[in-house]
Amino acid sequence: MAIDQSFLDELTARSDIVDVVSRYVSLKKSGSNYFGLCPFHNEKSPSFSVSQDKQIFHCFGCGVGGGVISFIMRAEGLEFYDAVSFLAKQNGMTVPENNYDKKTSKSRERLLALMKDTARFYYSELWKPENINVQQYFAKRGLTRKTMNRFGLGFAPNSFFATMDAMKEKGYTQDELLACGLVAKSEKGNLYDKFRNRVMFPIFDLRGNVIAFGGRVMDDSKPKYLNSPETAIFHKSRNLFAIEKARKTTNDYFILAEGYMDVIALHQAGFDSAVASLGTALTEEQARLIARYTKNIIISYDADNAGQMAAQRAIDILKKSGLNVRVLRIPNAKDPDQFIKEKGSDAFRRLIEQSSDDIAYKINNIASKFDLEEDQDRISFLKEAAYILALIDSDIEREIYTTRVANMAKISPQSMTVEVKNALQKRNQSLKKEKRREVRSVTQNAQPKDKSFKYENITSARSEEGILSVIFGDNTLVSYLNGKISPDDFTSPILKAFFIHALELYNNNKNITIPAFEGHFEPEALSLLTTITSRPVPAMREKALDDYINKIKSCKLKQSDSTTDPLLALAKAKKEKKFWR
Ligand code: CTP
Ligand code: MN
Repeated sequence: MAIDQSFLDELTARSDIVDVVSRYVSLKKSGSNYFGLCPFHNEKSPSFSVSQDKQIFHCFGCGVGGGVISFIMRAEGLEFYDAVSFLAKQNGMTVPENNYDKKTSKSRERLLALMKDTARFYYSELWKPENINVQQYFAKRGLTRKTMNRFGLGFAPNSFFATMDAMKEKGYTQDELLACGLVAKSEKGNLYDKFRNRVMFPIFDLRGNVIAFGGRVMDDSKPKYLNSPETAIFHKSRNLFAIEKARKTTNDYFILAEGYMDVIALHQAGFDSAVASLGTALTEEQARLIARYTKNIIISYDADNAGQMAAQRAIDILKKSGLNVRVLRIPNAKDPDQFIKEKGSDAFRRLIEQSSDDIAYKINNIASKFDLEEDQDRISFLKEAAYILALIDSDIEREIYTTRVANMAKISPQSMTVEVKNALQKRNQSLKKEKRREVRSVTQNAQPKDKSFKYENITSARSEEGILSVIFGDNTLVSYLNGKISPDDFTSPILKAFFIHALELYNNNKNITIPAFEGHFEPEALSLLTTITSRPVPAMREKALDDYINKIKSCKLKQSDSTTDPLLALAKAKKEKKFWR
């Protein structure tokens, strides 16, 4: 960990979790806990709880949880170190600089400096006279020099070593180049520049640091784009292209486009609140990031099928974050970039004005599949549309759209209302079923919400979880485990890591609590740990521990029986008279 533990202890002691969370969520006390609407997912009845005793938060709905620092990390979208500084500032404390701390924050600074220097290098390459063809590529695509500079565009020369050599010259190491994903390793172990002969788009974080690059070929070769991999400073799912510019807009809406070039063209045309996700489908984290800056989002994806499918998905994700969503349709053109180039910015502004809200968009999409002059088609259209209408929560809104759909198919609003009521009933029934299924899945299918923690051996993992929750409830029981079970008996890597940390805390005479795990584990892991340790603990704890231990041991036996243990395998083979002379 980067920051001195005693400082963290003092910081968390001073930052009462109820006070901190109250600034974001309105909490009501009920019993010994506080409850409110979860700020991390969309809900109508409170399943978000805060415990003052334990200094933790936990949402029974979406499963997030942790201590005060992970709350700030999530609520403010900060990394651990920045969340600590954020809280320290509010308490008039300064984060101490110990050596270790200096080293890690220094290494982060070094990586950021390397990325910045690389961006400068690409920029200077672009404007070299011999690279006039590259400059012309951008000019042909309609970009002014001012726009190019504003976005820090550059060029990665056609060489396996040029970038690497230039950065080594500046004092950066091979490890740092690797850590930034600027070089790759060949099968033989040689390093080479990852980006070659590509026009380069730097990707900035909210504070304007260069954290990644996208590189495009200038012809039709494949792959069209190469992007930086995930690194210590770049998390694709948490960032958006041009967010550092869009956040400063005076518009009361953001535009979400698909591509780098779309965003740049939009900004050049005066739409300075355009952003794009980074070459992947929009994530919930990105939607929440947008929702930090605006209430209104206009999806402006490519006009092709893939773009429209992606728009349908994006609508739901954006709505989950509480955004008002509109969808813009581009006629006779591929994407915003091309449209603006051909028709100009005023024409695009009109598209914004004509953009439809998400429901109208979905209804139009359905209508476009049918010929509304044909009776059979009209019926199919009405049936499909009824399901969309049934999804609308507000009665008034539902009525308005029901009338509109009825008019589209030239039937009476009354009969359409009947159709929607039927669909609504079906929807409520399936919602109930789903609720039941959910309740069942919590108790039966006990896999962690976060798929990266998926348990290989669910029986053993359940008992491993059990041990953790018992020792969280009563720290002194760690001594009861002595000699009976070791971390190596655990099958789940994440649970094993929790157990090791718990033992370490115990051996250092520290309390085993969620706050004591912060900074040692990612927020996603802390959510899992909070979920596990928030479950009720069996009354006879020592007996429960014995049961858990026996379960884990017998799982291990079964496992080794079939695969790993050579002696057992031999015995088995002997029995079957195989391989035995
Ligand atoms: N993308 C990617 N890798 C690819 C293709 C696309 O990462 N092989 C991402 C890029 O972020 C790109 C976005 O998906 O900006 C949209 O793709 P596309 O519409 O093909 O790219 P444009 O930015 O519109 O590029 P251009 O107009 O130059 O073709
Ligand atoms: Mn394009």
